[in-house]
Amino acid sequence: MAAQADAAEGSRLVVVTNREPYLHRATKAGHTVLRRTPGGVVTALDPVLRLRGGTWIAWGSGERDWEEAPSGQLGIPPRDPEYVLQRIRLSPEEVEGYYVEYANRGLWPLCHLAVERVRFYRHAWTAYRRVNRRFVEAILNGSRPEDTVWSHDYHLALVPGLLRDRRPTQRIAHFWHIPWPPATLLRLCPNRLDILTGLLGADVLGFQTEDDCRRFTDCVRQFLDIPADDATGIVQYQGREVRVESFPISIDTSLVEAAAEAPSAARLARAIRRRLERNHRILGVAVDRLDYSKGILPRLEALDLFFQRHPHRRDQVMLLQVVAPSRGSVPDYARLKGEVERAAAQVNRRWGVEGGWQPVVTLLQPLDLRRLAALYRAADFFVVSSLVDGMNLVAKEFVAAQVDGRGVLLLSELAGAMAELDQAFPINPLDPEGFADTLEMAIRVPPDERRARIATMRAHLQLHTVQEWAENVLAAVE
Ligand code: G6P
Repeated sequence: MAAQADAAEGSRLVVVTNREPYLHRATKAGHTVLRRTPGGVVTALDPVLRLRGGTWIAWGSGERDWEEAPSGQLGIPPRDPEYVLQRIRLSPEEVEGYYVEYANRGLWPLCHLAVERVRFYRHAWTAYRRVNRRFVEAILNGSRPEDTVWSHDYHLALVPGLLRDRRPTQRIAHFWHIPWPPATLLRLCPNRLDILTGLLGADVLGFQTEDDCRRFTDCVRQFLDIPADDATGIVQYQGREVRVESFPISIDTSLVEAAAEAPSAARLARAIRRRLERNHRILGVAVDRLDYSKGILPRLEALDLFFQRHPHRRDQVMLLQVVAPSRGSVPDYARLKGEVERAAAQVNRRWGVEGGWQPVVTLLQPLDLRRLAALYRAADFFVVSSLVDGMNLVAKEFVAAQVDGRGVLLLSELAGAMAELDQAFPINPLDPEGFADTLEMAIRVPPDERRARIATMRAHLQLHTVQEWAENVLAAVE
């Protein structure tokens, strides 16, 4: 921390993300409000920027952003600014090419091993490059060479390289939040060399897990034919050393604990439990963005098989599936809503009672932490069955909220969180019978063992928070 404080004196921090930390929105009554956006990066870096000052550069995507701050610049917080939010205005064509087409129909499915969904269009690549350049122009205008720049994720892979070309001595970190694909898949990306060299413009390149780091260095060796040492994570590139390292992102553990302990969450959880216990029911909860990578459809298939293989559980086990709508402008996402609704209806038709008991309840809306915390507390089991997932912070939230130590966690072996949450029950989302049997086993776990498993994982999350994550990345680059 001392080194960080020294560095902070002369150098400010510039955070660069696709999503902005605060957006201007219209309320139902037509008023404009400034809302903080949810998510790990904002939770971690908004306080850091407030403390040391600096700039946050992001796409101004709020419906009222440009009416409220036509210049794109805004002090945060507006009344007594501690840092600058610099919004970038993108045209509808730029949003389509850069965000919808290249980032979310190209890189996202590629990195999540959804090969058949991947499309790389030339016009999308042109837009992606142009928008990445616009971000770099904003960095150059809003920072000095001695500042630290921390860019994020698959939307901005070219930013470190483009910035390095203009400012050879700038300290640059880039964090890749999603899985890094194996070389056999990266080969499908026509722009792989630009993506790899773009990222190697950073001094520190962070990934979620050791496996991601190894897959990245493997790609560097195969496609760029330059030395990359797996033991040290050092890549020698253009006379510089790039440090490739894993920094598993986490949650604001005490915030989640406090939400779970709040009297309103405790009351709501108790009310849900009373109703369940009256009917001898077992409650499973799942919370996801509406995204094919989260494995919601395979989860419903496994639940169907579970009732087939364990018929005595009919009328006992129920799943509350919370789904937050996401990326509706991407065709595969727009279709998914109907697919999830149909799959849930099918399970309910087969195993439910007409006009009465339904094993799957789908809630298609985002819930705030207060309500989620109550659900986490009320749950007997929680399911994360991602097909592939960079980390999965919802799994960590569930664990942190287990102040009663009641719940068990079923966690996909292909989620980054599995490397840390080793007391979870591992599931393979594509092995429905194994998944169904693990569910039956997890339900039977006695209370003492449940508490012990949760206690180990909670202790880990109390030590490894999102604040610690941000400190570690900044300490590595500064
Ligand atoms: C993932 C990505 C983030 C992204 C989030 C929500 O977690 O790693 O960069 O912000 O999904 O997706 P959206 O497209 O709505 O920003």
